[in-house]
Amino acid sequence: MSELSYYYELADKLAETRDLTDEEFSSLLFFRNPQFAEYLSQKARTIRERYYGKSVYLRGLIEFTNFCKNNCYYCGIRRGNATAERYRLTEEQIVTCSDSGYALGFRTFVLQGGEDPYFTEERIASIVAAIRKRHPDCAITLSVGEHEEESYRRWFEAGADRYLLRHETASKAHYERLHPQDMSFTHRMQCLKTLQKIGYQVGCGMMVGSPWQQTADLVADLRFLQEFQPQMVGIGPFIPHHDTDFADQPAGSVELTLRLLSVIRLILPKVLLPATTALGTADAFGREKGILAGANVMMPNLSPGDVRGKYLLYDNKICTGDEAAECIRCLSIRVERIGYQVVESRGDPAGF
Ligand code: SAM
Ligand code: FES
Repeated sequence: MSELSYYYELADKLAETRDLTDEEFSSLLFFRNPQFAEYLSQKARTIRERYYGKSVYLRGLIEFTNFCKNNCYYCGIRRGNATAERYRLTEEQIVTCSDSGYALGFRTFVLQGGEDPYFTEERIASIVAAIRKRHPDCAITLSVGEHEEESYRRWFEAGADRYLLRHETASKAHYERLHPQDMSFTHRMQCLKTLQKIGYQVGCGMMVGSPWQQTADLVADLRFLQEFQPQMVGIGPFIPHHDTDFADQPAGSVELTLRLLSVIRLILPKVLLPATTALGTADAFGREKGILAGANVMMPNLSPGDVRGKYLLYDNKICTGDEAAECIRCLSIRVERIGYQVVESRGDPAGF
């Protein structure tokens, strides 16, 4: 059997059984061949289209604070970065962002920020309740890091229905090289389980090509996704930020990110899978390539123009100067050019 046909068979097996052995997963992830990449993404597109047709869902991202009490080594808004220009939106500004997003056709809002102690359980509950009251037909997603079960419950009761908390890496040893000692792998994983237990639609995910990541770590990520069965998975290449410990580390590979998107689509057929801003930053057509590899979500920015350039997790982030209306126009055109359509919908998981 030729090398290529061996890999085609692996892709067929994955599409059929949603599973491979660890060795098969690692050889498939690291087989760099354009013909094979196209074969794998074709399989992923077929599955994606079975459940979601040609629809691409938009999430309006409101980056409402870049203060953070954590010091993740990779992140541009970590507490130790004294050069980051810090900002916080007011409750009124956040609600106004959701109103303007609604008028533009967004039916999901993602409130994302650093772990900012100013935004107490109470304040976040009040913001969620205000948006829920004004936009009862929309999904509200929170992405504000690790908190107590009580807070997660309170926000769920206030009207939040989804939560994004990337696990970052499913290997404890690798996690500990990416984070300082005051951050705990076990706690992050526990938070994910708690969110799922409460009833949120939960999103986890990892950076691709973060420093010291090994093939075995990515296989551990895939095993974790199979076991955890999240509704959403956010992955993007690691991109260095000049004011972090990882400033001189190489960026993650776009091609590997695309292969992983296809593999994730095949192991979790109904998953909501964004073509992330990091992917669009690493490659001018990264988001289109992501959709063609099996992704079905995009997350344009709804934050006010004057703060967009300040939520800088990594260098050269795209779309920091555009207004939301421009972003949506640009994305719709990009998506149409590759034969897909942006739709006005909450974009819940198929069959949820
Ligand atoms: N504070 C919240 C949390 O911890 O989940 C949400 C904000 S956090 C900045 C969102 C995600 O950005 C992280 O989970 C991480 O995967 C990603 N990120 C941070 N720095 C990055 C970098 N240098 N390159 C690529 N992605 C990065
Ligand atoms: Fe907190 Fe990045 S270190 S958001």
